[in-house]
Amino acid sequence: MSTPWRHHWQLDPDLAFLNHGSFGATPRVVLEAQARLRARMEANPVDFFARFLPVALTEARRQVADWIHADPEGLVFVPNASSGVATVLANATFGPGDELLVTDHAYGACKNAFALAAQRSGARVVTAHIPFPGTTAEAIVASVLAAVTERTRLVMLDHVTSPTGLVFPLEALLPHFAARGIEVLIDGAHAPGMVDVDIDHLATLGLTYYAANGHKWPCAAKGAALLWVHAARRDGFHPLVISHGLTAPLAPGQSRFRAEHDWTGTSDPSPYLTWPDAVAFIASLDPQGWAGIRKRNHDLTVLARDRIATALQIAAPADDALLGSLASFPLPPDLAPELDAMALHTRLFREHRVELPIFPWPAAGQRVLRIAIHLHSDLDDVARLIEALATLR
Ligand SMILES: Cc1ncc(COP(=O)(O)O)c(C=O)c1O
Repeated sequence: MSTPWRHHWQLDPDLAFLNHGSFGATPRVVLEAQARLRARMEANPVDFFARFLPVALTEARRQVADWIHADPEGLVFVPNASSGVATVLANATFGPGDELLVTDHAYGACKNAFALAAQRSGARVVTAHIPFPGTTAEAIVASVLAAVTERTRLVMLDHVTSPTGLVFPLEALLPHFAARGIEVLIDGAHAPGMVDVDIDHLATLGLTYYAANGHKWPCAAKGAALLWVHAARRDGFHPLVISHGLTAPLAPGQSRFRAEHDWTGTSDPSPYLTWPDAVAFIASLDPQGWAGIRKRNHDLTVLARDRIATALQIAAPADDALLGSLASFPLPPDLAPELDAMALHTRLFREHRVELPIFPWPAAGQRVLRIAIHLHSDLDDVARLIEALATLR
């Protein structure tokens, strides 16, 4: 089966590109829209930043918020999900003995941010261990809840985990934190475009903050991400960079939150503005729009997961219901035992032109291989991977 959409991307035709997950990949038409924005910016920077941008940003924010069912007043653009997580931590106050809860499937950079925030305030990070392989929704809920104590102040849960590609059962988890008055940050770096994101609904269940990327599954230009903040936390919630908005007179109807977050100094805002273009373009490729694309990617991921698990002679690592369009595999120790995760990754790329990540997870010495399926990838790419793995036996 070959994908009819690959030509929309500039990806090297020689590559079996199974790593949409790390940095996304942006279609040509979105890059062309970005080029037009940049040409406009350089034709008259003053007109672009002073007159065009405030209106364009409001409209882009409205469209993205609409897509993920969020109140646009609580949504701010940030350059990447890491910045969204950092902004939440910069606005939090912890004291000695407070606990910040994460899981061992959290993204390493975000875990680092939590560790430093805890270290600076005398708080401590508690890490919930989620079993993998053999993961079920019930096991995720039980593991996370077992790590909650009277001292838990903030929880960071992934919507879709990075090393293991699991879609966390947020609907089952959030109400437990709401009942205890504990703030919840969802790291949704991989979620919009892979799963149906409904912020309004999650907010009714106990969501406090949501960080997500536009440059991953939505396919916006690189440097497009968002942070959504619950209405109850917007007052006094500052951006990472303090600028004019802290003291500037507010326009009619404008909140201080908006004034502060909508301008954090001069930078190229074109990635933010391409997000609605990307959403519209990808939706146009399937008669069912994003729902059809999510289903195609998910169905293909399950198929690919089964073929790869069979080739590796391992059981499916997690329930199908926990998969979106990432799937990870703990590699058997007898598969090229002399190659660590990085060496194996390099071998697959150099000798087989297969591009995907292999993580030293959950600990150094172990290896987890992850595939990602978006419209530009298909079962031919997976077949190349399986042939490459067969040469390692
Ligand atoms: C779960 C998760 N969170 C955060 C990030 C960081 O994203 P960014 O590099 O855009 O900040 C990633 C990147 O892969 C991720 O997988």
